[in-house]
Amino acid sequence: MRIDEISIFLHVIIFCLIKGVDGALRCYSCMSRYYGVTWEFAGYSQIYMEPRAFTDNCPDPGRRGSQVPYVYCDDHFNCVTLVEELQIGVGAVGYIRGCWSNVFQHGFNKTGAVGQLRTEEVCHKSNLSQLIADSSGTRESKIHVCSCAKNLCNGQPNSALPSSSTFFALVIAQFFAYKLISG
Ligand SMILES: *[C@@H]1O[C@H](CO)[C@@H](O)[C@H](O)[C@H]1NC(C)=O
Ligand SMILES: *[C@@H]1O[C@H](CO)[C@@H](O)[C@H](O)[C@H]1NC(C)=O
Repeated sequence: MRIDEISIFLHVIIFCLIKGVDGALRCYSCMSRYYGVTWEFAGYSQIYMEPRAFTDNCPDPGRRGSQVPYVYCDDHFNCVTLVEELQIGVGAVGYIRGCWSNVFQHGFNKTGAVGQLRTEEVCHKSNLSQLIADSSGTRESKIHVCSCAKNLCNGQPNSALPSSSTFFALVIAQFFAYKLISG
């Protein structure tokens, strides 16, 4: 094999390792326990799809022993993290993590800036009504939402930013692949 062929080969392997061979992502699936406690009477069950777990560990699913479950997404779209300002006190926020396709009952708005969440790694500060595809009858709240495109990338603690650790793993892997070829 020529060097550029080896390089492409290694890229494909690295890509498959990170992305999962079939292309469907694994994403953490959880909501803060507050949502579970108020699920029916606060109307959350009308807006959100039920996650795998309502848990106090949803803010930090990567922490040792947190036991936050994940799901395989039904499609090849992104993982998302939402941080919603709750109406129960200043600074109170709820965490929501899942696949792009299984967070909202009616799904995300697929057009405009919000539509980018499906396939691009972006963050938006938005209102609930702007995020969802059918916002009729929805109460309003402020939400910070981020999307990311790697397995379990939606586990970043205390912020909605996508994980950068897999990015650095990729850079390091490429560095060693390059050393292997050139050395
Ligand atoms: C989705 O977002 C676009 C752009 O912001 C907006 O014009 C459109 O009305 C929204 N669609 C729905 C169904 O809310
Ligand atoms: C969210 O809604 C409020 C009130 O309806 C509005 O003042 C604000 O500009 C909206 N925020 C965004 C990011 O559009």
